[in-house]
Amino acid sequence: MASGITQAEYWNGEVGTRWARNQAVLDALFAPLTEALFERAELKPGAAVLDIGCGSGATTLEAARRIGVAGRVTGADISAPLLAAARTRVGGAAPVTFVEADVEQADLGRFNAALSRFGVMFFPDSPRAFANIRRMLRPGGQLTFLCWRTLPENLWVQVPREAVMPLLPEVPPPPAPDTPGPFRFADADALGALLKNAGFGTVSCAALDRDVVLGRGETDAEAAAAAAHVALNLGPTAHLVREAEPDLRARAEAAVTQALRGHAAAGVVRLRAACWLVQAG
Ligand SMILES: C[S@@+](CC[C@H](N)C(=O)[O-])C[C@H]1O[C@@H](n2cnc3c(N)ncnc32)[C@H](O)[C@@H]1O
Repeated sequence: MASGITQAEYWNGEVGTRWARNQAVLDALFAPLTEALFERAELKPGAAVLDIGCGSGATTLEAARRIGVAGRVTGADISAPLLAAARTRVGGAAPVTFVEADVEQADLGRFNAALSRFGVMFFPDSPRAFANIRRMLRPGGQLTFLCWRTLPENLWVQVPREAVMPLLPEVPPPPAPDTPGPFRFADADALGALLKNAGFGTVSCAALDRDVVLGRGETDAEAAAAAAHVALNLGPTAHLVREAEPDLRARAEAAVTQALRGHAAAGVVRLRAACWLVQAG
């Protein structure tokens, strides 16, 4: 996804700005997954919580709502534009701090729980990062996070991707194994071993499948166009056309809209998202 540039450059550049601008769209897209994350995390009132790769802060604020004013939540991210968006969302009494920090190495204090919504797949050195997170958990503390299963299982990515691929002048090479990227932890056995080696004693990876809403409209055609816009500007299909000429972009938008039209009903495009809901303690 970000060949030749660092993750900090990637998330502080155009991608971070675009994610920050579309915070409401992304939060709506991930809503059914977020709910499952919090159900699993079972945050206790008064807890100290770390939100890893917190982005524009939706999960940080939800954690704060759940733990109450006696607790505290630290949202950590390497992206200045996303943290700036997050800070604008904090209400007066919320026990929330946002910090610009690389969770792979920063010591951010000690926590009763750590969580992440798709923010742990981008560490250059995952063993080091998970060992660092483990060190920041108090005895009995749990790390709970969402990551994606395989690309073909994630129809919300696969359907637009398949529509774009035939238009590209060349097929992009698959990502090298174990490099930062959204589908890096699709292999649950490998992920479990990684977490155990990082010092976690118990690890569970539960498959979580939910339909997510990629677009809405007055008509199915409008919903498909809205969904195509989301697919081609945010999420794992966007990089395929990020630097494309306007003509190719227009053709990609038309092809993706047509493909998504087949998944629209009653003015909503819904497609399957497939995650691992992981807990390690
Ligand atoms: C896919 S986004 C998810 C953002 C947010 N959790 C959400 O669900 O909207 C991944 C996030 O991880 C952050 N990130 C990547 N590497 C990081 C690191 N080493 N330390 C902290 N955050 C990191 C990125 O800046 C980005 O905000």
